[in-house]
Amino acid sequence: MAKEVKSVEYGLEKIFEGAQDFLPLMGTDYVEFYVGNAKQAAHFYKTAFGFQSHAYAGLETGVRDRVSYVLKQDKIRLVLTTALVEDSPIGEHVKKHGDGVKVVALWVEDARKSYEETTKRGARSYMEPTVETDEFGEVVRAGIYTYGETVHMFVERKNYKGEFLPGFKKWESDYNPASIGLKYIDHMVGNVGWNEMNTWVKWYEDVMGFVNFLSFDDKQITTEYSSLMSKVMSNGNGRIKFPINEPAKGKKRSQIEEYLDFYNGPGVQHVAIATDDIIKTVTEMKARGIEFLSAPPQDYYDQIPVRLGTHMDMMKEDIKELQKLAIMIDADEEGYLLQIFTKPVEDRPTLFFEIIQRMGARGFGAGNFKALFESIEREQEKRGTL
Ligand code: FE2
Repeated sequence: MAKEVKSVEYGLEKIFEGAQDFLPLMGTDYVEFYVGNAKQAAHFYKTAFGFQSHAYAGLETGVRDRVSYVLKQDKIRLVLTTALVEDSPIGEHVKKHGDGVKVVALWVEDARKSYEETTKRGARSYMEPTVETDEFGEVVRAGIYTYGETVHMFVERKNYKGEFLPGFKKWESDYNPASIGLKYIDHMVGNVGWNEMNTWVKWYEDVMGFVNFLSFDDKQITTEYSSLMSKVMSNGNGRIKFPINEPAKGKKRSQIEEYLDFYNGPGVQHVAIATDDIIKTVTEMKARGIEFLSAPPQDYYDQIPVRLGTHMDMMKEDIKELQKLAIMIDADEEGYLLQIFTKPVEDRPTLFFEIIQRMGARGFGAGNFKALFESIEREQEKRGTL
């Protein structure tokens, strides 16, 4: 596994030894969901997640085959897209997978070079470098497939001053629920099929120049009933982190298997979004109707002082308050983190969100995995999919 060489996160400098420099990434540009009804999905993300109206493309802007709503909150941009015609790859995607993430777009300095470097290393092309222009300048985009039908789009916007992309108009709305303090995408997790995790780890290493900086095997991520394996991939500056999960054999059905069955193949399992004040964010989300996984048992919270050790001194939050909201706590050598997971946000038990507040810790809540998966199993049990 890669050795970390410098403890600076979210800087542009390289922090992971072994990461390759051929694909410099400046951050997540946008995440595009293909959904059955973008208008209603946009309302949901505005109301419940506090996203703001940002940009729009559809019939009114001259687009005939699809409609896209772009939502923004701090550094996060979500795009919600629905087909307007019968014969459409968007409609096909929704039919096969249900609502889900189609594009994880990455902000780059040079989209043509990003495309060239990754395709020559074996990436399958989704879209050749394409220049789009309007009165605000030009954007170059190019895309490659990753796991399943999911795509990484490289977005070069250094010569663009518009709201989002050429073809989109600013979206003004009279309905603007307040932000709930979501800041940026911390990581996005992919579920892949049986025995495919290492294939995709190698793909991210070879094609994208990423490094594997954390690994969890099925002995670490296991409950009495089910298990999975996970490896975390990061680009050189640590801004882009993609954990990859695969199911592992247990007494009952792994949550990853359940996802693969309902999504009909590999795809994005969860999007983790950072906040500076998880208590405020989660309180707001609950008030706005978002359902979260249930809290771990009392014993879990009783053990927090032991698990946090010296980090207890720096902990500002009240454990009772965290427990009341079902927020989980984990620690590593450098600090602690607070996290919570929503139930799936669409009808199929597929995509969900994580809300995370990092207080120095850079892990992914390994100490919470058991409690988390037991909570997911309780949901699977209700669905008859355990
Ligand atoms: Fe996560």
